[in-house]
Parts: sequence; structure tokens; C-alpha cells
Amino acid sequence: MVNTKVTLSGLTLDNPIIPASGTFGFGYEFADLYDINILGSISCKGTTKEPRFGNPTPRIAECTDGLINSVGLQNPGIDKVISEELPKLAKHYQKPVIANISGFSIEEYAYTCEKINDHEQVGIIEVNISCPNVHNGGMSFGTNAESAFAVTKAVKKVTTKPVYIKLSPNVTDIAEIAKACEAAGADGISLINTLMGMRIDLKTRKPVIANKMGGFSGPAIFPVAVRMVYQVYEAVKLPIIGMGGVNSARDVIEMMLAGASAVQVGAANLVDPFACKNIIEELPKVMEQFGISSLQDIIGGSH
Ligand code: SIN
Repeated sequence: MVNTKVTLSGLTLDNPIIPASGTFGFGYEFADLYDINILGSISCKGTTKEPRFGNPTPRIAECTDGLINSVGLQNPGIDKVISEELPKLAKHYQKPVIANISGFSIEEYAYTCEKINDHEQVGIIEVNISCPNVHNGGMSFGTNAESAFAVTKAVKKVTTKPVYIKLSPNVTDIAEIAKACEAAGADGISLINTLMGMRIDLKTRKPVIANKMGGFSGPAIFPVAVRMVYQVYEAVKLPIIGMGGVNSARDVIEMMLAGASAVQVGAANLVDPFACKNIIEELPKVMEQFGISSLQDIIGGSH
């Protein structure tokens, strides 16, 4: 009997599989399909201070081995998330969840994180400084070590729960950004968000996505994600939630060998709503195949 449990900042997860923010709603939407309590945790839809309608459509462009999105952080705003969305999730899911928070200023990040900090089901706050689809916020905080430091510091000042900073791959040196977050007091790092991409329609000769560019995710970015998780594991002493193109139990194990303590599954949920369930069911068999008795023991095992 293999052991799939892992720990993240003192939280024990039954397995390392977590649907990634923006690919699984607030989780309850999937409860009719299967018992979502099998999931290690859930990273909820990215939340901002104010409600957001998001970007104009089309927002999605399909690609070989992936897709580009430019959703633009559509969400009902922190007050509705606390009063409506999280209570709905609590009816179906009884484990700690990850609240994913975005902002357009340091004050806004701090305000929203302070509010969500008091919610009892929130086990980890994941601060998204890497959304490529909004102006004056999002990724602009995550592509510069000073602003990554400043956001982390401001959020840590007003929260008591573990704070994980979600990093952008659209940088020259991801280790430098991770180190800045660690120096500012981050409890963990989530990586990677999407890579900037673009498609052009041959008939119209115009960009497929209304916002022109978007974030590319899916199996094609998996090797980039493994490389960056590996680099960040060498650079900081913090736990890492790895993500980017994870599609199978073998991918989960590879990501953990690179240094991830837990793994988020993103674009795969958009192709198959049962993706996380399938990976969880497949995991013990693949562990046995590779002689792994406990997943916790393989974290960073490739270093
Ligand atoms: C979006 O809402 O545009 C995607 C969120 C993200 O990539 O951080």
C-alpha cells in the first residue's frame, strides 16, 4: 500500500493533486461529476477586490498541445466569494482550500488577502502576481524582484495563514524573483503561470484573441515548468506547488522529483473535467511501477 500524503506548510493533503485556479471554478461546479473530496485541495477561481467582467471575447485560442487564454480575471469580487461561493463549496468539500488572490495595486492585494485570511476553510493564500491578461497589475508585479518583494511584504503584514506567491515564467531569472519573495517572508512558491502567446487567424489576418495576446498553457509547457521548479527548488528553502502542463501521474512524479511538494493541474481540466480524478486514481499504480512507497520522500529527488 503506497502513501500519497504530502504536507504543505503544516497542512497534510491526502494526495498532491490540486486543480489550478481558473480551471475549476470554485470547485462545487464539479461536485455533480464526482466526489471532489478525493482532491488534495482546490485552488479557487482568482479573486480581486472588486467584481470583474473580464476581457472581451474571444478569450480562448486552441493550439497544438495547449491553449491560450485571456480571461482577464473574471470573478464576482471578494465580498461575494466570501458570502456566496465559499459557502457553496463548503457544502461539497470539507478540506482546507487555497484562495487565489489578484490585485491592481499593493494596497488592493493586502486588502483582499486580509479579508480572505479570516475565512475558516482557507488553508493557504496563493497570491497571483503573474496574470498576463490585465494591465496595471497582475504580471507586472511578478516580473520584477522589487515589486514581488513589496507585494509579499504587504500581504504578510496582514495575514496569519501561509502565503504562497504564484510566479510568472515570463522572466529572465525566476530564481531571483523567488528569492525576493522568500526574503519578504513568503511561506511557499507556486509556479508556473502561463507563458505569453498569440495566434493569428489566416482568413481574417487578425489575432484570434480579442486582447491580441494571452497566456499559453497545456502539455507543451510542461518541460518549461519542470525546469523552473527545479531552478526555484535550488534557489529557496520554501515548499513549492508545481504546475504547468501536468496531464498524468507520471507528470506529477516528475514535477515532484524537480522539487514540488504538491502539484496543480490546470489546462487538463478544460479538456477533461475528470482529469484530476483520473490522475489521483492512476497515481498509486505509477508509484508502484517506479518503486515509490511514499510521495513525500521523492520531493526534490532529482537534485
Ligand atoms: C486570467 O484570468 O486571465 C487568467 C489568470 C492568470 O493567468 O493568472
